[in-house]
Amino acid sequence: MMAANLNLVMHATQVVARCLSEGRGPAHVMASMPALRGEPADVRAQVVRCSMAVIAGRRRLRHVLGEQRPVDALERARAYVMLVLIEAGEHVPPDGRDLPSLQVMRERVAAIVDSAERFAVEHSIPDWLLPHFEQAFGEQRRSVLRALAEPAPRTLRANRLRVAGRDELVERLAAEGVDAVAARYAPDAVHVIGTADVFQTHAYREGCFEQQDEASQLAILATAPPPAGKVLDLCCGSGGKTLALASLLGNRGALLATDVHEARVREMRGRLARAGVDNVQPLHLDGSPQAEETLEQFARRADRILIDAPCSGTGSWRRRQEARWKIDANGLSELQETQAMLLRRAVAWLKPGARLVYATCSLLPAENQSQVESLREQHPDLEPVRLAEILGRKVAEPITDPTGTWLSLRPDQQGCDGFFLIALRRRG
Ligand SMILES: C[S@@+](CC[C@H](N)C(=O)[O-])C[C@H]1O[C@@H](n2cnc3c(N)ncnc32)[C@H](O)[C@@H]1O
Repeated sequence: MMAANLNLVMHATQVVARCLSEGRGPAHVMASMPALRGEPADVRAQVVRCSMAVIAGRRRLRHVLGEQRPVDALERARAYVMLVLIEAGEHVPPDGRDLPSLQVMRERVAAIVDSAERFAVEHSIPDWLLPHFEQAFGEQRRSVLRALAEPAPRTLRANRLRVAGRDELVERLAAEGVDAVAARYAPDAVHVIGTADVFQTHAYREGCFEQQDEASQLAILATAPPPAGKVLDLCCGSGGKTLALASLLGNRGALLATDVHEARVREMRGRLARAGVDNVQPLHLDGSPQAEETLEQFARRADRILIDAPCSGTGSWRRRQEARWKIDANGLSELQETQAMLLRRAVAWLKPGARLVYATCSLLPAENQSQVESLREQHPDLEPVRLAEILGRKVAEPITDPTGTWLSLRPDQQGCDGFFLIALRRRG
């Protein structure tokens, strides 16, 4: 038994116990654990990886433990941690010898009689989600779900307001001992190799990059604001896409970035300053007549209205495994209502020739194609823009659906988060 694994089991047990009781992810939990802050970056990265594997595999691990599942929360967390190490072919401490072997784990899952339940347990998803994955992917659902249980790559976006492009970013990072390589699809994207803490670099403090998945970076390219155009980012959150839009616009034009979540808008203000952005007006939608007036006046003149909608987040489970367990069928219905409401509002503002860009990090047709279909039934004057027109055929083909009208990104195919995007133009 390697000392490193003993340390890993000890730390991961603490993290998992808190993640499971608080319903939060390892990164949040670890931020308030001083014992872990002193550990080297590679140990922390292993703890995150192991904890994520437990949260992702919770249903399967619970099933394979069966009667052996400890009542005490800390002992239970320790058993889960050791099971994911066994699944990964790693050594476990001596008390792990009483746990089921890999072979026994497989047999216990295979013994489930109902085939739908067996599949849901194997891939550790709630039963109610299974039909959604079947509808979306048919026989390929297994490959999608496997990829969603894996760790996500660490992807950065070069901020063109601070560096000339990703080559300069790679050089800056290399000078600080961080290896990064160009990503495949998005031109400003790089993947970080290894476990170095990129947020401790001068490059980060100077705003040379943001951490952002390749899918979100491609979404911004597909939004394609005209030079010096006006863009409304209706659901800006803490500004991930707003910052990318500002970088793409080269600080020209005007962006209104709005959200109902005040703390996220506040966080965005700090990020805008670090990234050197000065073409963005942040606006907290607090329900006041002033905020609504500002929103509406801008929206009616906007060239692009981006709705990066609140959604199930099924496409980004690799980064937030706890999201698997956070919503139920009712939660999905509520999200669908909000999505439909946001679409209705945006269409009412859309001027002729302008584009409504609807995006989600969901893999479920109920939040994606179905929403767009019902919107288009009510608004026949909306037509999808072929993404090859925006991105060029060579770039668009591998990342769009067969009709070429929506971004169809999958972790098992493109290696990025699952993502949906469609750009709808109002006929002028
Ligand atoms: C997927 S997140 C946005 C992520 C963000 N665009 C980014 O790139 O980081 C969806 C956001 O929609 C916001 N939201 C929910 N309901 C809203 C509404 N009615 N109007 C505006 N924003 C809303 C949520 O607060 C959340 O921040």
